[in-house]
Amino acid sequence: LPSFTYIRHEVKDGIGWIELHRPERLNALNREMVKEIVMAMEAFDHDDTVRVVLLTGKGKAFCAGADIEEMADQTPMKMEVANQFADWDRLGLVKKPIVCAVQGLVLGGGFELVLSCDLVIAEEQTMFSFPEVQLGVMPGAGGTQRLTKLVGKTKALEWLLTGDRITAQEALQHRVINKVVQSEQLEEEAFRFAHTIAKQPVLSLRLIKEAVEVAQHASIYEGMQFERKNFYLLFDSYDQEEGMSAFLEERKPIFKGN
Ligand code: CAA
Repeated sequence: LPSFTYIRHEVKDGIGWIELHRPERLNALNREMVKEIVMAMEAFDHDDTVRVVLLTGKGKAFCAGADIEEMADQTPMKMEVANQFADWDRLGLVKKPIVCAVQGLVLGGGFELVLSCDLVIAEEQTMFSFPEVQLGVMPGAGGTQRLTKLVGKTKALEWLLTGDRITAQEALQHRVINKVVQSEQLEEEAFRFAHTIAKQPVLSLRLIKEAVEVAQHASIYEGMQFERKNFYLLFDSYDQEEGMSAFLEERKPIFKGN
């Protein structure tokens, strides 16, 4: 991977870790930064030493949203040609599970980035919001779509139309996030959560995530057909043979990831 300007990255014990790092702008996302995040995610997706991706951001904000300075003088045609949201679409194509650990403020595009991940752990002081309405715009990277799928129309509209801040507890209650932990334990808990998943057979992780993604848009019938093909496919893997033999022989399985 090249050395990036706005993010840091590292591989630790099977976890491909990406940290937003633009502290002077509270990790606000400019187009280059989104490209960097996507490039790092894709590189980890193809790196056999990485099993799970972990995304973090420190300081006052996990992320203060899209870069308003960069956006302010945009025109519809400039944005059409730049087609920046195509980079966001690539995040949805990452096959490995993405865990996101958030703290502080999670705003606008930062919230959309979180909604593009698979699992979210937050420290108890975290506040989420979609402030776009107060800027005379609206979310453009999936906010109205992904939030509505998760929390339903009524809450999604409340949060999107007011721009009000939501606490970590509310986000948990409405199934936007998986866990809330004490502030000082966020990093440790995030790595533990990521490790719990990273221990599982890689091909199961991949095909489970893919099937759950299909459930977001397919009919239950189509989804079930897709699911069973993935189920059948796993019977071509070493880890299926090993997992089942180990159970029958009453020993611990040793998974190889193929
Ligand atoms: N874009 C660009 N710069 C930003 C930024 C953003 N989204 N958020 C913060 N910054 C910059 C500030 O301009 C400031 O820069 P200077 O030091 O050069 O003045 C620096 O980061 C620190 O921020 P503040 O001084 O404002 O810090 P604060 O503690 O007083 O306030 C804050 C923090 C409440 C997060 C405030 O910065 C804020 O409201 N930021 C904007 C949040 C926002 O509206 N985000 C949504 C963007 S729209 C979007 O995301 C669209 C989409 O869907 C794609």
